[in-house]
Order: sequence, then C-alpha cells, then structure tokens
Amino acid sequence: MTGLPDPQDVHLTLMGRRVLLGITGSIAAYKSAFLARELVKRGAEVRVVMTPSATGFITPLTLATLVGNPVHSDFTESIESGAWTNHVELGLWGDLFLVAPCTAQTLSFFAQGACTNLLHAVFLSSRCPVAVAPAMDLDMFTNAATQENLKTLSERGIKIIEPTSGALASGLDGKGRMEEPEVIADFVEAFFLSNMPLSGKRVVVTAGPTEEPIDSVRYLGNRSTGKMGFALASRLADLGASVTLISGPVNIKTPQRIAERIDVCTAQEMYDATISVWPSMDAGIACAAVADMRPVNPADKKLHRGDLPDSILLENTPDTLLEMGRTKSSSQVLMGFALETDSAEESLKSAESKLTRKNLDFVVMNTLADKGAGFNHDTNKVTVLQSVGAHTEKRIFELKTKREVAYDLIELLSTLLI
Ligand code: CTP
Repeated sequence: MTGLPDPQDVHLTLMGRRVLLGITGSIAAYKSAFLARELVKRGAEVRVVMTPSATGFITPLTLATLVGNPVHSDFTESIESGAWTNHVELGLWGDLFLVAPCTAQTLSFFAQGACTNLLHAVFLSSRCPVAVAPAMDLDMFTNAATQENLKTLSERGIKIIEPTSGALASGLDGKGRMEEPEVIADFVEAFFLSNMPLSGKRVVVTAGPTEEPIDSVRYLGNRSTGKMGFALASRLADLGASVTLISGPVNIKTPQRIAERIDVCTAQEMYDATISVWPSMDAGIACAAVADMRPVNPADKKLHRGDLPDSILLENTPDTLLEMGRTKSSSQVLMGFALETDSAEESLKSAESKLTRKNLDFVVMNTLADKGAGFNHDTNKVTVLQSVGAHTEKRIFELKTKREVAYDLIELLSTLLI
C-alpha cells in the first residue's frame, strides 16, 4: 500500500491534471497548505512556486511534504551548486497555473508584466491558463488601482476566483478574504471540465467482447479484454468529452470522468444500448469485439452432457457499427475497428472494404500477424485508414502501449470533431 492516489478511485476527479500552485506573501498563505492537500487528495499532481515573502508565512518544507515535490522560490536551486530553477520548464509543465493567495502587489506585477521574482517569471513564461485567488484587506481590494489590475488581467483571459467577505486579519470586516480551499479546488475541477478541447462533445464507445448463450452457463465468446476501448474512453474523458461507455463483460474498473457506463452481455444488448444513444452523439467508436453469430435457441437451463446437441444452429447477430454508419448524420464522426489475422496486404484490403461498407470516417486495423498487437497485450500496433472524399488516407503507427495508441487515435478523431 503506497500513499499515492489509486488511479481507479472514482473520487479522484483531478487525476492526471497538473496544477502549478503559486503562493504569494499574504496571511492567507496558511490556507495554501489545505488547498495543496485538497488538490492532491483529488488526484492532481501539484508543484509549488512561492514568492520569497510567502516563505515567511508558510514554510516550503510544509508544502513540499504535502505535494511530494520540491518547492521553488528562488532562481537558483542552491547557492553552492549555482544551478538555476528552470522557470520556462515550470511554466510549460502545468495544465493550470493557480496563484492562491494572490496579493495586491502580485496582481499589479502581473498586470504590468514586471519580473522581480521566480513566480513572476513563471507567470510570464507559462503557456497554460492562469487563475488567481486574490487575498488582501478590503480597502486594498476596492482600491481603483487593484480593480483596474483585475480588469486588465481578466481581459487578458486570466481567471479570477473572487474573494469572499468576512473578518479580515487586519481586524476589519469586508471583501478580501481568499476563497476557501475546497471551493478553489471545486473551481479547478470545473475549470478542467469546461476548458478541455473536447468539452461539450458526446462520444459513445463500445468495448470488450460479447457472450452469446448456448445455455444458462455456456456461451460463445472471444478473447477481447476491453483494454483498448477503455483506454480510448479514458482519453476522451480526460480531454473533456462526455463519454458513454458500452461494455461487454470485462474485468476493468470504469476510468475517471466517464459520464455513463452501460454493461451488456450479448451482441443484441450491445446493439440496442448503442443504437438508442447514437442519435444524440457527436462521435462513435466501435472497439468491441462483437460476436458475429449466436446460437438460435439457447436453453434457459444448463444442458447436461447427454442433452447436448451434436451441432448448434447459429444465426447472425445485428451489426451495431453497420447500423451506426447507415444512420450517421453529416456532422457525426465514426471510427470502427478491424481485427484481422491475415497478411498485411490482405488485412488492409479487408479493412478498406469495412471503411466503405460501414460508412466510416476511420477504420483502425490491427492484425494478429503483428507481434504485440490484439488481445491479451498491453500494446497494440495499428494502421488507420481515413476516408477523405473519394480517396483513402493511410497512417501506419509503431507498436505502442494501448494508452499511447489511444492518444494517437483520439488525436485523429479530434481533427474532425473540433
Ligand atoms: N461490429 C459491430 N457489431 C457486430 C460486428 C462488428 O459493431 N455485430 C464492429 C466492431 O466493433 C468493429 C467492426 O464492426 O468496429 C469490425 O468488426 P469485425 O468483427 O472485424 O468485422 P466484421 O464486420 O464482423 O467483418 P468480418 O467478420 O468479415 O471481418
């Protein structure tokens, strides 16, 4: 058992998100410890940059211990070694630069673009969005200069987490208290949900095998584990899409941020579940290894050895992807899979025919002839065919982990979705 967050824990709403936490010299800096802990508790990876004056309010050691990363407050790592803190690297690392608390002075420096300490340099060199949680006395907050600075920063796209009203450290009462850590963490969650490239897009993903009953205990199935489909669903959700994951029987926990998971067993159930949601989707990915045939009259109890038939009569199952392609609107994007076992040339031919026959935008071909591809591996090697007007574009990818393959495939899908 480690102290690290379990990636399968559904409460880890910030799993995989990188938050660069900036702390400036305000008494509210003591609350940054709670904020850092709250972000880590929700799964975020946190690194901390402090202004020199912030280190007088709370020690870097406290924060380093809470976030499990070194804390930066100076341009040099250590005077003895002369090593520099790479502010550009820090600025590029975060998915969000959150400055909490942010003093009136730091707001003013940000508005001017002044660079007098490491935190300012990180601000100027960061490429990710920036959010500030102001903390100051009420008169400093209402001062026209501060209000003008906030307006300037807001116009430049910096998010302002409004301070609240209440008792201030000065003894006065009014607006200027930094927002509570839990509320700031909620803001961070909401930020990631609404500012991702696929925010607002709805995608259905089918995954895993199907099981077609012979009797109440036996079935026809296949070796699909569902890993590829779940990796795709996870990547989509991380990029902000609202994902409906329709899965056959698998032994995998639902990834973070999946909007809805529907568990099915048979090809018919997968068809019914998928076709009922498909009209409201922006995109679909059919990654499931659906059984093509099913026993005609499955027995509703276990057949004993003597009762087992010599042969089992089979019939076709409905083809979910074919129906999705048939009913696809001009704005919907559809990606199918083609698992082949033949030589590369034969496999490509078969995949290309699926692209046209099922009216797909993309078909992802993998062949069991390639080592490390297909079922029971954590890796996959795919070739993607894309239908572009009257011709087909082909992209060959190297052998990669299924997670990396999911990154590549979602990047491709996104080119038609965004
Ligand atoms: N598929 C589906 N429903 C089915 C069969 C397949 O949705 N009943 C989808 C799969 O999820 C996959 C694609 O169709 O995205 C291709 O599946 P595959 O089994 O490789 O191809 P088939 O269409 O069954 O064709 P063939 O058996 O000739 O290879």
